[in-house]
Amino acid sequence: MKKISIIGAGNVGANAAFYIAEKNFADVMLIDIVQGKAKGKALDLMEAAPIRMYDAKISGSDDFKDLAGSEVIVITAGYVRKPHMSRLDLLEENIKIINPIIDEIKKYSPDAIVVVVTEPVDTLSYYVWKKGGFDAKKVVGMTGVLDTTRLREFISKELQVSTADTTAIVLGGHHDYMVILPRYARVEGIPITELLPQERVQKIIKRTREAGNEILSYLKTATAHYAPAAAIAEMAEAFIKDTKRILCVSACLQGEYGIKDLCLGVPAIIGFQGVEKVIELQLTLEEREEFEQSVNVVKKAVATLEI
Ligand code: LAC
Repeated sequence: MKKISIIGAGNVGANAAFYIAEKNFADVMLIDIVQGKAKGKALDLMEAAPIRMYDAKISGSDDFKDLAGSEVIVITAGYVRKPHMSRLDLLEENIKIINPIIDEIKKYSPDAIVVVVTEPVDTLSYYVWKKGGFDAKKVVGMTGVLDTTRLREFISKELQVSTADTTAIVLGGHHDYMVILPRYARVEGIPITELLPQERVQKIIKRTREAGNEILSYLKTATAHYAPAAAIAEMAEAFIKDTKRILCVSACLQGEYGIKDLCLGVPAIIGFQGVEKVIELQLTLEEREEFEQSVNVVKKAVATLEI
């Protein structure tokens, strides 16, 4: 079995381990610096294996040397927002957490694909890419898969159709300026703009944009974790099984969309080499303006980084 390591055994990390194991495509090493936390969660998850019928092994460790031999490493460690905080408010504190992790990845598994989940995702993906000196194709942020699954769920609810028939594309940063393209939000290939009046389309878009805040407003002391964990498992499966799926991810851009040296949400072909190809959509003038507004938020945050 291939190996996926997940750094941070909190809500997101542990649920991602569970979803990955249930799909049986890789063993999982959960790592957390809090002694016993990852080991305890891994044991608990393995004791569910006979009932849930997975052969994948989930292990836990508090020692980064157990990153060795990973094909994929997922970084979930870090603070999450409290109500009324923005994702960018977490930047300073989470950089302190990410810094030693970058060194450990370089030491034990420098060729792994690194999936950044810690917020603010796009800015920290850039930081990991540059600070670690990693290959641009091998650092990727988890953003659009989460935003699109939320959008797809809202479309299915609104139209009373199966989520299986829905597809969507979300571009830009994973923040209040994410760019949702209604013409690419479809049910069995039909754009939702042909199935719903404009104001209901706008309602769905607004709810998707605020979905993280909506959950935080209910949970108060935690942010969303089941859908983010499912998004991690979806990406990990595409990397490990080399499926070449087109997923929306925060890719480290090197000229695509006219952008160099930023990580931003775009659709991309995902395979064993990492982000194998960024798909460049022909944006309308209006979409381009919205995209640039989104890019500028990430650009501003990146400009504050010391690397
Ligand atoms: C959210 C967090 C993961 O959108 O940013 O729920």
